[in-house]
Amino acid sequence: MSQAKFITFEGIDGSGKSTVIQETKKFLESRGNDVMLSREPGGTPIAETIREVLLSDALASVSGETEALMMFAARFEHLKRKVLPALEANSWVLCDRFTDSTFAYQVYGRGIERYFVEQLAKLVYGGHQPDLTVLLDIDTTVSYERLAKKNEATNRLDSHANNFQNKVRQGYLSLAKQHPQRIKLINANQSIEQVCVDVQKELLCLFEK
Ligand code: ADP
Ligand code: TYD
Repeated sequence: MSQAKFITFEGIDGSGKSTVIQETKKFLESRGNDVMLSREPGGTPIAETIREVLLSDALASVSGETEALMMFAARFEHLKRKVLPALEANSWVLCDRFTDSTFAYQVYGRGIERYFVEQLAKLVYGGHQPDLTVLLDIDTTVSYERLAKKNEATNRLDSHANNFQNKVRQGYLSLAKQHPQRIKLINANQSIEQVCVDVQKELLCLFEK
């Protein structure tokens, strides 16, 4: 058993986050750790309610700033009631998306001011950053094919055109360049087995810290 860490998983829709998170949970548990899974937007009853509104067609013409504010309302609840208490109880937290998603989707994707999100992040959790962020980088054509194969009904936020997904992807790559210590880039075009091996290498580095 080792000191619990907060790990976030990022990437465009269909990059494999849910799949990799399940495998990462198994890997960490096999080493005797407690692991809690969560996701954003969501993770607590109130945050899940905000998620439903955010992903529904009701917000079709909402501004990017409103989207960001709602993401952070859900995030505040999620951090305070779920993530921080779990870490305090020495449970690892694996979270499907976190603030990098707001930079990638609302700032790089929808074009809102970066400063707006930076200020919200400071207010909501000060300097509390994930210990590690796994960025699953994938070609938009590959992710599209995988989602089509899975025949997944898309929600309002991930049904944007390929052009939007490309902007978000490029945004993620810029974020990885800005935070090379925290954000680790994984080639998610590979087989699921190889992706998991690459993620486990990054986790082993975390155990040494
Ligand atoms: P996300 O949570 O990022 O939206 P998922 O984990 O749901 O992505 O993956 C989307 C689809 O692609 C699922 O059907 C999943 O089984 C499949 N998939 C995930 N990773 C891979 C991979 N490396 N190779 C092939 N298919 C994959
Ligand atoms: P979800 O179905 O969870 O997507 P995925 O399976 O790809 O993770 O839907 C979450 C959507 O919300 C996704 O399109 C990304 C978007 N999102 C933002 O736009 N900003 C954010 O801050 C977060 C956390 C998510």
